[in-house]
Amino acid sequence: MKFFIDTADVKEIREAAAMGLVDGVTTNPSLVAKTSRKFRDVLIEICDIVKGPVSAEVTATQYDGIMREARELAALRNNIVVKIPLIPEGLKAVRTCSDEGIRTNVTLCFSATQALLAAKAGASYISPFVGRLDDVSTDGMQLIGEILEIYDNYDFATEVLVASVRHPMHVHQAARMGAHVATCPFSVLLQLSKHPLTDLGLAKFLADWEKVPK
Ligand code: E4P
Repeated sequence: MKFFIDTADVKEIREAAAMGLVDGVTTNPSLVAKTSRKFRDVLIEICDIVKGPVSAEVTATQYDGIMREARELAALRNNIVVKIPLIPEGLKAVRTCSDEGIRTNVTLCFSATQALLAAKAGASYISPFVGRLDDVSTDGMQLIGEILEIYDNYDFATEVLVASVRHPMHVHQAARMGAHVATCPFSVLLQLSKHPLTDLGLAKFLADWEKVPK
């Protein structure tokens, strides 16, 4: 299972990378806005840290504009994956990108049929937003299971990238289901390493070590 980090904060990316937890990075306009930095500068710095796929999102919503942005982004660094929203104009652009060898991450997916269309258009990744579905009383992880089943039925090469991850149970379930990637905020990556018995056990070992003659 691949772990991507869902942030545009280069400090977080460096820290997670030092723990070996960054196979790739996903960004979106909201995450970039939090940095108060220019999109291009942030992207290039991220690509200098991480050699794996770095998702960069287009903001155009019509085919021509999406393709213009997609080609510009893809030309910046060869590990950039162009993130395109799951709308009809976006699917047209995904098809062209696929034909031109530009990798894509189709974002804002909330249904299995949307995911099916993205795969047919030739998406490299599909990003179902599990946390946002949970927020509206719909089981986000059930959607992951459905997409994996459909992709498996037809041997689609599109990778299922579990997005909008909010807590460790999303990652646990994604791993059990065999999802290809989970993209996590830095806080969730840290939470994954935590267990109260680990902390208690370590405190006891260190206390006992003080009693050992040295
Ligand atoms: C996915 O690629 C998105 O960047 C992200 O996971 C959305 O998460 P949110 O719902 O917590 O904003």
